[in-house]
Amino acid sequence: MSGHNVWTHKGTFLLAAVGSAVGLGNLWRFPYLTGENGGGAFILIYALTIFAVGIPILIAETLLGRTSRQSPIMGMRHLTKTHKTSRAWESIGWLGAVSAFLILSFYSVIAGWALHYTWLMLTGSLVGADAQTISDGFDTLLASPSLMTFYHTLFIAASALIVGMGIHKGIESGLRIMMPALFIILMVVLIYGIINGDVGAAANFLFTFNIGDLSLEGWLQAMGQSFFTLSLGMGAIMAYGAYMPSEASLTRTAIAVAFVDTAVAMVAGLAIFSLVFGAGLETGQGPGLMFVTLPLAFAEMPFGALVGGVFFILVLGAAISSSISLIEPVAAFLVERFDMTRPQAVTIMVVAAWAMGLLTVVSFNVWAEGTIFHTLFGRSAFDFIELLTNIFMPLGGLLIALFAGWALTQSEVMKELGTNKTWFKTWRFLVRFVGPAAVSFVFLRTIPQVDGYVIPTLGALFIVGAFALSQRMRVSAS
Ligand code: PFF
Repeated sequence: MSGHNVWTHKGTFLLAAVGSAVGLGNLWRFPYLTGENGGGAFILIYALTIFAVGIPILIAETLLGRTSRQSPIMGMRHLTKTHKTSRAWESIGWLGAVSAFLILSFYSVIAGWALHYTWLMLTGSLVGADAQTISDGFDTLLASPSLMTFYHTLFIAASALIVGMGIHKGIESGLRIMMPALFIILMVVLIYGIINGDVGAAANFLFTFNIGDLSLEGWLQAMGQSFFTLSLGMGAIMAYGAYMPSEASLTRTAIAVAFVDTAVAMVAGLAIFSLVFGAGLETGQGPGLMFVTLPLAFAEMPFGALVGGVFFILVLGAAISSSISLIEPVAAFLVERFDMTRPQAVTIMVVAAWAMGLLTVVSFNVWAEGTIFHTLFGRSAFDFIELLTNIFMPLGGLLIALFAGWALTQSEVMKELGTNKTWFKTWRFLVRFVGPAAVSFVFLRTIPQVDGYVIPTLGALFIVGAFALSQRMRVSAS
C-alpha cells in the first residue's frame, strides 16, 4: 500500500508541494487576474488570504494526509473510523478526486497551448509579427480541434509517464531536475524584462495599493485564486502529505510553500508586466495576456524568440509539476483500493481525464455556442467544468478546515504541529472560524445572482450552519 511510502528526503515534500503550487495559476492566471482587477489592491487581498486562510488550510490538508498515511479517499475513510465521525466526511476525499480529474482535463488543454507557443517561439515563427497576425494566430489555434487535441495528448501523456514511474523514480527525480531549472529560467526572464521592458511601470502597477480599484468580484476572485494557486482542497497536498516524514515541520514547510508560491507569482507578474508596459500594450487582456499580449512583446524585442521560447518552457515545466499532483491522489487511491499496479491506475485516470479534456477542446470551436450543452447549462462545457471546480475547490477547503479544526483532538494536532500552545490555538482559531468564513464568501461568488448584502448575509448563515455541524461531529475533540 502506498501509505507505507515516504519521500526519500525530509525536504522532498516541500519540493513536491511547491511543484504542485507553482503552475499555470502563477504564470498565466495570476498576472491576468491582477491585470483585470486593478493591480495592487488585488494583490493585497490575495496576500492577506494566503496568509490568514491559505497557510492554515495548507497545514490542515497536509496534516490529514500525514496522520492517515493513505490516499485522500482511503485516508478520510480511516480518519472517520478512528474519530468515530460520520462517514460523510469521506466526501473530502471524493470531492478532491472529482476536482482533480476535472482540473486535469482542462489544465492539460491550456498547457497544450503553451506547448504550441514554445514551438512557435523556438522556430522563430513570430519574429517581427504584428498584433493582428499574433491575435489571428491564437484564434487559429483555438479554431482547430485536431491541433489542440494533439498538444493536449502530448502534455497529458508526459505527465502520466512521470507519475507512472512511481513517487521516487518518477515524481521525486522529475521534480529534482525541473524545479531548480524553472527558478533559473524565471530569473532569466525577469532580468530580460528589466533590461528590455519597463520595470518601473510594472512595479507601480503591481504594488500601488488603491483599495478603491477593487470590485467585490475582484475581491472574491483574489480569494479563489489563493486556493487555486496553493492547490488546496483537491487532495493533491493531502496525497503528497501522506509521504511526508514525521520529523519534517508542518508549519515551517507550509509557510515556505506559500512564500515561494507567492514570490513566483510576483516575479512572474513583474517580468510579464515589464514586457507588456515596455511594448506599450494593454494589461487587462484576460486569459489572452500570455498567449497574445506576451508573444507580441517578445516579437518586438531583441532575442525575443529565444527568450520567449525559454519562457514557454518555464510555463510547461510549471504546468507539468502541477499536473502530476492532480494524477497522484486518484492513482494512489486506485492502487490502494483495487490493488492495481501504478501504471494501470495512472492509465485509467489519465485516459478518463484526456477524454473529458476533449470537451474543453471543442468548447473553443465546434461546440463554441448554440449546442445542447449551452441550452442546458447556459455556458460552454469548458466554462461549466471551470465553474464546477470553482465550487468544489473552496468546498473541499471548507470541509478540510472544519474536519481538522473540530474533529481532530488537541493532542494529535499538537503531535503533528509541534508543542507551541499559542501557535496551536492560533492555528485552530484560523481553521475553525476564519477559514470557513472566508471560504464561504469565495464559495458564494459562484452563485451568479449574489450581490450587495446577499453575500454577507448568506456568508453569515453559512458560518452558523458550519458551526452547528461542527458541534455535532465534535466527538473526540478535547
Ligand atoms: N496550483 C496549481 C497552479 O497554480 O497552477 C494548480 C493546481 C494544481 C490546482 C494542483 C490544484 C491542484 F491540486
